Amino acid sequence: MTAPFRTLDDLDVAGRIVLVRADLNVPMTDGRVTDATRIERVAPTLAELSAKGARVVVLSHFGRPKGRDPALSLAPLVAPLSAALGGRPVTFAEDCVGPLAEAAVRALPAGGVALLENLRFHKGEEKNDPEFARALAALGEIYVNDAFSAAHRAHASTEGLAHLLPAAAGRLMQAECEALAGALETPARPVVAIVGGAKVSTKLDLLGNLVTRVDRLVIGGAMANTLLYARGVAVGTSLCEREMVGTCREIEAAAARAGCALVLPVDAVVAARLAPGEATATVAIDAVPADRMILDVGPATVTAIGRHLADARTLVWNGPLGAFETPPFDAGTVAVAREAARLTAAGALLSVAGGGDTVAALAAAGVVDALSYVSTAGGAFLEWLEGRTLPGVEALRRR
Ligand code: 3PG
Repeated sequence: MTAPFRTLDDLDVAGRIVLVRADLNVPMTDGRVTDATRIERVAPTLAELSAKGARVVVLSHFGRPKGRDPALSLAPLVAPLSAALGGRPVTFAEDCVGPLAEAAVRALPAGGVALLENLRFHKGEEKNDPEFARALAALGEIYVNDAFSAAHRAHASTEGLAHLLPAAAGRLMQAECEALAGALETPARPVVAIVGGAKVSTKLDLLGNLVTRVDRLVIGGAMANTLLYARGVAVGTSLCEREMVGTCREIEAAAARAGCALVLPVDAVVAARLAPGEATATVAIDAVPADRMILDVGPATVTAIGRHLADARTLVWNGPLGAFETPPFDAGTVAVAREAARLTAAGALLSVAGGGDTVAALAAAGVVDALSYVSTAGGAFLEWLEGRTLPGVEALRRR
């Protein structure tokens, strides 16, 4: 089958200037990168292009600056990027268009790598301004987009540029798209989705899309409280969007129409408040005391989810099942994550996870490398789960 877009396999890059859109929007504290996953995941594309003799120009945004802001410079990313490339030197230009950028590109030898300053220092980036896109395009000869996690943005570097130069997906973009297509577009069935997190109201589109695509939808986290409440279950002092009852009934009806089984917790770990060391109790879901809040799924729910996973061939996971940042309320998420990892290792399950807190929760469970694919994307993964078209991916499609 032909890939829907060109990849590095389709490019002849020796001696050519290749503009690579990366997503170096990594967490940083006091100028130090606290999680280098996105840098490490884009490095293979940069290394491959460099090894093939390309002159590699890396473009990225960082944070959400309003104009030029030294606190959001990409300069501190030069050393981590060079480290991820096995010590290969990376030069830096203090602008992403104009004379400074042009000089940095001209100075690049074949195989050399340059990082340009934060794209969002220019208003034209987020506006997808054609003139700004042309200024970027003028720097290079080929465009490679390796920023799946920014593909939900129709910005100059993620969308406009793809129409101005020969365009291809980088290895990370390719892997993300293939993993995600394998999980929802052409999955082995049954497909189970696990969706957690705080609020039904922020995941309406996502739930609406998933009920039409998966065979079983497991809901955990505080959003399960709202669905339970809508079913008439007393949820004590739990986080609950009481005004969403009508919406929850619509979700239940849509699931029934689509033949998707909605799986809610059958027991819960409760406490008086969300704090470490708080006294906890495990109760049946219809026995939550009026002065207690649900903070995690209980062991019977973990067992039930495990049974669904054992029957499934594909898992899509977004969001933790409990208040995982505050032990012991991480126990449900950790147990289910380990079971998913075990089934994946046994070859019984294709498991794909991503979005928001999910990666942190899976990292806490020590299973990030044990699932089939963990996405580096936050918002882009959620929009994909909502069934939306991602402009950055769309622009790469073969025309
Ligand atoms: C992300 O971190 O999810 C991406 O880099 C996109 O960032 P943005 O939400 O600021 O566009």
